[in-house]
Amino acid sequence: MNKTMKISLAVLLLGLMFFSTVSFAILNSVSALTIDSVTIADEILNMPEHKDIKIALLDFHGETTSERIAMGWHLDGRISAAWGTHTHVQTNDARILPEGTGYITDIGMCGDRNGVIGVKRETILNNFLHPEHTRAHDFAEDGEVILSGIVVDVDDAGQCTSIETLNIISKIR
Ligand SMILES: [Fe+2]
Repeated sequence: MNKTMKISLAVLLLGLMFFSTVSFAILNSVSALTIDSVTIADEILNMPEHKDIKIALLDFHGETTSERIAMGWHLDGRISAAWGTHTHVQTNDARILPEGTGYITDIGMCGDRNGVIGVKRETILNNFLHPEHTRAHDFAEDGEVILSGIVVDVDDAGQCTSIETLNIISKIR
């Protein structure tokens, strides 16, 4: 386990310690580039067995930024926070939507800070410069890494009270 993974685990455990006294749900949705992701989120949130859940968080791995933004608006006020992933680059739009949902289009990545969205930069440059060759995806084994994410505060009613971006830069090896 490298340092980045240890930090991720620590953040996750701290979160679980906090959440262990309240009912909460973490949803993970993958883009279908259709309305399906939105309607499935609706169905899950409307299930009778979920009526006591105070805090609901959505991690939406969406192909496009537009569908992630649409999902945020659709769930505003019905979920504590919704964030997107897939772009790898953290977006600058973290905010609390009008009905109380914390939202950001992309929380960024955990990986090689000096690469190209996590992949060794020499490899990706070579792919672009020589598209006729087999495309490779090599990963750096040392150097600077970044852990990007968000810190969300939620009140007892499940409303987001603050959302801030987080970026920790470290070195491996
Ligand atoms: Fe992805």
